[in-house]
Amino acid sequence: FSVPEVQNEPMHAYAPGSPERTALQAAIAQMQRDLPFEVPCVINGKEVRKGMLCSQPMPHDHAKNLCTYYEADSATVAQAIDGALDAKAEWEAMPWNDRAAIFLKAADLVSGKYRYKLMAATILGQGKNAWQAEIDAAAELADFLRFGVKFVQTLYSQQPTKNSAGAWNRVEYRALEGFVLAISPFNFTAIGGNLNATPALVGNVVVWKPSPMATYSSYIVHQIFLEAGVPPSVIQFVPGAPEIVAQQCIAHPLFAALHFTGSTFVFKQLWKDIASNVDVYKSYPKIVGETGGKNFHVVHESAEIRNAVIQTIRGAFEYQGQKCSALSRLYVSSSVWSAGFKEMFLAEIAKIKVGGPDDWTNYMGPVIGRPSFDKIMSYIEKAKQAGGEVLTGGTGDDSKGYFVQPTVILTKDPNSVTMVEEIFGPVITVFVYEDSEYEQTLKLIDSTSQYALTGAIFASSRAALIKATNALRNAAGNVYYNEKCTGAVVGQQPFGGGRASGTNDKAGSISIFYRFVSPRSIKENF
Ligand code: SER
Repeated sequence: FSVPEVQNEPMHAYAPGSPERTALQAAIAQMQRDLPFEVPCVINGKEVRKGMLCSQPMPHDHAKNLCTYYEADSATVAQAIDGALDAKAEWEAMPWNDRAAIFLKAADLVSGKYRYKLMAATILGQGKNAWQAEIDAAAELADFLRFGVKFVQTLYSQQPTKNSAGAWNRVEYRALEGFVLAISPFNFTAIGGNLNATPALVGNVVVWKPSPMATYSSYIVHQIFLEAGVPPSVIQFVPGAPEIVAQQCIAHPLFAALHFTGSTFVFKQLWKDIASNVDVYKSYPKIVGETGGKNFHVVHESAEIRNAVIQTIRGAFEYQGQKCSALSRLYVSSSVWSAGFKEMFLAEIAKIKVGGPDDWTNYMGPVIGRPSFDKIMSYIEKAKQAGGEVLTGGTGDDSKGYFVQPTVILTKDPNSVTMVEEIFGPVITVFVYEDSEYEQTLKLIDSTSQYALTGAIFASSRAALIKATNALRNAAGNVYYNEKCTGAVVGQQPFGGGRASGTNDKAGSISIFYRFVSPRSIKENF
């Protein structure tokens, strides 16, 4: 048998008066009427309501909670691990077409029955506008699940092509021996689903610690998995404090893999903790992570200015600069800068409206929370102190929600703090280089930051593109020519970066599935 052909989920446009806009508005209104929700831990399919009660406030209106939830205590985490391990043999032995069908069904539930509910939770809980929620909670999540099935089908079909006479060589792609710990971030509902579905598709069992700032949408994703037929103990939903959930998982002898998306700092810490437990484990754990970024655009003198301006604004300010791929440093040729780039850039930014989800003309929403707001504002201050000139923005208002204006800082120092460090907010720092110094600038881009996630080059000159390709070989895992550095599409641009940005195992491609299997070679003599 073979799995069905898969396509990227078509995206809705949400034009005024369209049925999809009406449906999404109704889902948001309903959710606003019914909140706050109460989210349990879900262990072996059963709701567990004990442990510390915490809350997920809405970033556009922080006095109100979208949900409250229970942080798993140590006994709950132990139950989650034990239950997952008990479920493993049966899940791994389930015929592949049945496992595949479960996740294809989950994809249909995401794109159909639960689309607007999941989007509403992402909009209210994680501060996205409708279009950003559509990209994430509807399209990308459905794509991860459907393409995941396709990739695993391809993986399983990769077999030795030579057999000696009277024998048959084959490879069995076993699941890992033990359980996987998935730790997901707030910024993509889709990533939460994918961090579980990827290991589970190949027969692994998973303990999932969702981001506290995305608890409600993650809970809905988990409910979808259960409804689609994922057996109750295969993915355990365990919100909680890292020092309880992560540490307890990492200390377990059958800890088999970490599937992580989040900050570089936390990932390194977990890596060290895993290293210190290496004698405890039955197998060497796999460590898979996608972490920080300091993503760049370089605009060459041959660039088409309007495209470079629009793409730069989208890369830096969509979802308030909180995508791992978001643009935060811009290197622009001085002739392009003065030939209209600067003017057009600032004029377009002046049109951006910032605000909550009730007004659909808002291009930007809130940043995720208090620590994030404070961090972004402090970086703007640091940039000013370092001699940066704020060309626009620079202000925030946290009285009701955590709103930061789109901010552009011009610097003469390419090593200044906001050129180098990750901010994770709507702040872009611009360095204008002399046209004659393009090659030095490429070297500078490569050496400025510890990260290597995404980047884009704007040029109509092929020679300029070739120079950049070579000079920036290790500076980004995802590179775009004449397009913004965000928005990788599953099955189209495998996503991930190197250096301090992650293990570059490429979400949305077959590559990542290799990390969650332990192949067994079999030779049979007839
Ligand atoms: N995959 C997303 C993008 O490319 C970021 O996580 O924008």
